[in-house]
Order: sequence, then C-alpha cells, then structure tokens
Amino acid sequence: MAYTFELPELGYAHDALEPHIDARTMEIHHGKHHAAYTSKLNAALEGHADLHGKSAIELLAELDEVPESIRGAVRNHGGGYVNHALFWEMMTPGGADSPGDDLASAIDGSFGSFDDFKAKFQATAGAQFGSGWGWLSVDGGGQLSVSSTANQDSPHMSGLTPLLGVDVWEHAYYLNYQNRRPDYLVAIWKVVNWDVVGRWYAEAIAG
Ligand SMILES: [Fe+2]
Repeated sequence: MAYTFELPELGYAHDALEPHIDARTMEIHHGKHHAAYTSKLNAALEGHADLHGKSAIELLAELDEVPESIRGAVRNHGGGYVNHALFWEMMTPGGADSPGDDLASAIDGSFGSFDDFKAKFQATAGAQFGSGWGWLSVDGGGQLSVSSTANQDSPHMSGLTPLLGVDVWEHAYYLNYQNRRPDYLVAIWKVVNWDVVGRWYAEAIAG
C-alpha cells in the first residue's frame, strides 16, 4: 500500500487474544498507538509527492533516499506503521501452535530445535533495553536470524524480511503484565499464527 496510508483493520475482536493479550491493551495499541503512527507518517509525507508511489516497506528499505528533513519521522512512524501491521496479522486466536514442515526444518537447522529457537527469541527480545521489537527474519539467501531492534526500527532497514515480530514497548504489555516482560514473552507463543509466518517464509524464499 502506498500514500495515503490507512490503519489496517484487526482481523479479530479486541478480546480475541485474551487472556494472553487483554482487550484494553488491544484497543489502545491498535486504535491509538498504531493510528498515531499512521497519521504521523501521512503528515510527514504530505508535501513530498515524489514519494507517494512507494509502499511503507520501500520507504524503510530505501531510507537513505528519503529527504533528511523527514527521514527521522519516516523511520519512526513508517517503522511503527509497518511493524504493527505485521504484528496484528501474525497473531490469531487459536491458530497453529508450531510452524509447518518447511519453516520447522529451517528453524531446526538454524537454531537446533523449535524450543531452542523460542528460548533464543525470548532472551533476545527480553534483553532489548527500553522500547523495541524482537524479530525472526530471513535474508535474501534464505538464512534465518533472531534479532532485536530499538524503537520502531525494522528489519527491512537492514535488508531482511521479518517473519515474526513481537512488540516489547511497555504499551504492548504493561496493563496485563506490568514489569514482567518475560511472562509476556512466554504467553505470546499462544497467539502466534504460524500459518501466516510459514506463508511469509515461503514467499520470501521463493523471491
Ligand atoms: Fe506497539
């Protein structure tokens, strides 16, 4: 999608991910935080018609080509726009609780086992100081990696394709978990939609 960007709809009710993510958090997170990233991204791009044909992902992947006067705003709000769109779509009530064969094999090859992957992901996202995200990404050669980014920085900025992203800003979990980010990072596995993550992996390695 290109300019003007619109807030994507949730594919489920605000309370659909309870008890793992509470309805009030989802209401504020989607309806206020993601809405604000969307409107601020649009505002930053308003006077830059030459960029209006680009998708938000393209803007992030080619951030050096964005004029310096709005580069910070596009990085922050464009990142927030893209990251949250992925986050909502990557979650589901009652989806597959583990990856399908192709992604499962790739995870085993890269991390040892599915449990080893989850432990590495939780440790990496848990150790992100302050606000940010934990990621499972794939590069152009099909190699998987776990990483974290600060603020709203995206793996797209590093040439990676994110497959699974978990928001570790306090706004994502504080109402339900307060300071217990590790508990949130255990609960999140209950709502990951592995069907979607597996589809994105297949699309990425197909080029
Ligand atoms: Fe967020």
